[in-house]
Amino acid sequence: MASTALISNRNDVLAKDPEDDSKPRRLTYKNVEGPDKEILEKLYLYKNALIEVFPGSILIPPGFKEVGERILDLKVRQDDTWVISYPRTGSTWTQELVWLLGNNLNFEAAESIQHQRAPLLEMSALMSNEGDIMGFLDNFGNSVDIVDNMPSPRFIKTHLPWHLLPRQMETVKPKIIYVARNPKDMCVSYYHYCCLVHRMTGNSFEEFCNLFLRSRTPMGSFWEHVFQFWERRHEPNILFLKYEDMKRDLQKEIKNVANFMGMKISEEDVLRLEEYLSFGSMQKNPAVNLQPLMSTLRGNDYMGAQDRPNFIRKGKVGDWKNYMTPELATKFDKWIADNIHGTDLSFD
Ligand code: A3P
Repeated sequence: MASTALISNRNDVLAKDPEDDSKPRRLTYKNVEGPDKEILEKLYLYKNALIEVFPGSILIPPGFKEVGERILDLKVRQDDTWVISYPRTGSTWTQELVWLLGNNLNFEAAESIQHQRAPLLEMSALMSNEGDIMGFLDNFGNSVDIVDNMPSPRFIKTHLPWHLLPRQMETVKPKIIYVARNPKDMCVSYYHYCCLVHRMTGNSFEEFCNLFLRSRTPMGSFWEHVFQFWERRHEPNILFLKYEDMKRDLQKEIKNVANFMGMKISEEDVLRLEEYLSFGSMQKNPAVNLQPLMSTLRGNDYMGAQDRPNFIRKGKVGDWKNYMTPELATKFDKWIADNIHGTDLSFD
């Protein structure tokens, strides 16, 4: 993959409207057609569960139509801190670290739901299939409005690819912490998340993986997502993290993030954060487990039960070995090798 080509790609695809180059290009949408339509209808409970956004050909729930343009035009602030990632790479974990560092380690304030403190920008769109049914969105409000109206300094999370982010990201250059994860583990985690939250039907793991390998899962191409940030990782406002590094040495990554955020942190605070951010403690923490959504979708007593899948699920490196056949793992390995060939990106 010629990753540098991807960087200029965003400028090409979004900077100008091809029909009127005095205007920024706008987004267009299409229903998914052909064999993918059939596969998606089998996997999801609803028809047209995903639509296709252009440019970029990104699949996403249809509520994105209401917010896509607004997101492109959203005002970015210099003192924003953005956590950005492909889904299921450890963004909730990273966000909790970033929010606490940016808020003086205020563990008491961190007891409120993470989405209220550090909203997922496109949450309203992602939950548009579920939210309409369950009234969830009425309780939370439009996530783009929430971000737009938040007082500074804002902490924001997003899974959108670079070219669907606000245009001002390029010029205002807020702090960006990007987190990436080995795509085999990430895809396993994504599959479980889609079954849990988006009520995708079970026994479709291989089908889901094949969609992912063809960039036909929500948020599109994993590689385009990652390389847009990997190639920018030396810019002073961008920090590139890997899930596996956080698992290997969380203390080191806590110090790394603190340093990036311009903060001095004592050894004692590193230890407090390490304990708070441990898998066991995060899995029990209702503030970071999508609890309001889980209660609405699955019932009030859902979260406590250990025998059920949780939003914060296993937290392991190498869990793909429990799910992928040797053939599927080989297919992933080849796909990874083909895409990182000639770049200096690697995954454990
Ligand atoms: P698994 O499904 O493999 O367990 P995101 O927040 O971007 O949706 O990512 C979710 C993944 O991060 C899940 O992976 C989740 O368990 C993992 N995760 C969340 N908190 C964690 C922690 N404290 N330690 C390790 N992994 C964590």
